[in-house]
Amino acid sequence: MKTKIINILKNADGYVSGQELSDTLGVSRTAVWKAINSLRESGYEIKSSTNKGYMLNSVPFVINENEIKDNLHTRIFGKDIFILDSVDSTNTYAKELGAKGYKSGTVVVAREQTNGKGRLGREWVSQKDGGIWFSVLLRPDLSPMEISGVTPLAGLAVCKAINQYCSLNCKIKWPNDVIIGNKKLVGILTEMVAEFDAVEYIVIGIGINCNFSSFSEDIQNKATSLSIETGSKINQSKLLAKILECMEKEMLSSGCKLNTVNLQEYTKLCATIGRKISFFRANNKVSAVAMDIDQSGELIVMMNDGTTCNINAGEVTVQGIY
Ligand code: BTN
Repeated sequence: MKTKIINILKNADGYVSGQELSDTLGVSRTAVWKAINSLRESGYEIKSSTNKGYMLNSVPFVINENEIKDNLHTRIFGKDIFILDSVDSTNTYAKELGAKGYKSGTVVVAREQTNGKGRLGREWVSQKDGGIWFSVLLRPDLSPMEISGVTPLAGLAVCKAINQYCSLNCKIKWPNDVIIGNKKLVGILTEMVAEFDAVEYIVIGIGINCNFSSFSEDIQNKATSLSIETGSKINQSKLLAKILECMEKEMLSSGCKLNTVNLQEYTKLCATIGRKISFFRANNKVSAVAMDIDQSGELIVMMNDGTTCNINAGEVTVQGIY
């Protein structure tokens, strides 16, 4: 009933009377009033006037089921979607769904994570309504050897979607952080469950800082949010729908692999290329210059002695970026 009320109010030109709502929906005026209050609690601003009825003022900026479904134009991604108020980690939840046999494209999104996971065993701060915390379950027809393109592709899709939706100029820090200037905006954690020669499923977990106005002292020089960068609050449901659309396009068209077209786009957006970097090799910190990305998503670097080598994972420090 709440979805129906919102749709009526969205399409109305001004106020809709309580009587009209109760007649159209075949429920009592009290039931309408209760539904309106519950909609207000979930973030809809609805004006009421004794003589005229109800009018929709604004839709919620936080994750909201109705708003996601209204804006989602995908074939597969998010068709099955779990929208949670609070969860330990959307990745953990999505992995459980994977083990239970849920379909490829199933999405889990939460308004808050109590144990958000970052890469390399770190914590990912995921306070309530501060950002979009979500995971996509995928069952790509690939072997574990062929899976390396998935995370860069997810980074590419998220970066493009944010740039289009927020008119920003985000870049990618290899392999998949989305950054603005020298600060991190998005983190991606991909987890895989596989047999020796076939991937059973993967979970791509994405955290986007949206409506944070400040960060704790230890990360304030390294992290940023969309509201800080754009100066306005972000409609998280609409942005999530846009990102799922971009991810579906990027991943379905390429079979989740890097190809000439998407690799060229990725390389253009990759802020790591051309910069001095350092990384650990056999417990020693070494310096190099990032040169390019190859078709398996590896970073090609030139060492100080002029030789080149590939890096496929781990932590890379990029000069000038957090
Ligand atoms: C990173 O360290 O950069 C990766 C951060 C990934 C965070 C996201 S938020 C949604 C999903 N659930 C998690 O527990 N982690 C990922």
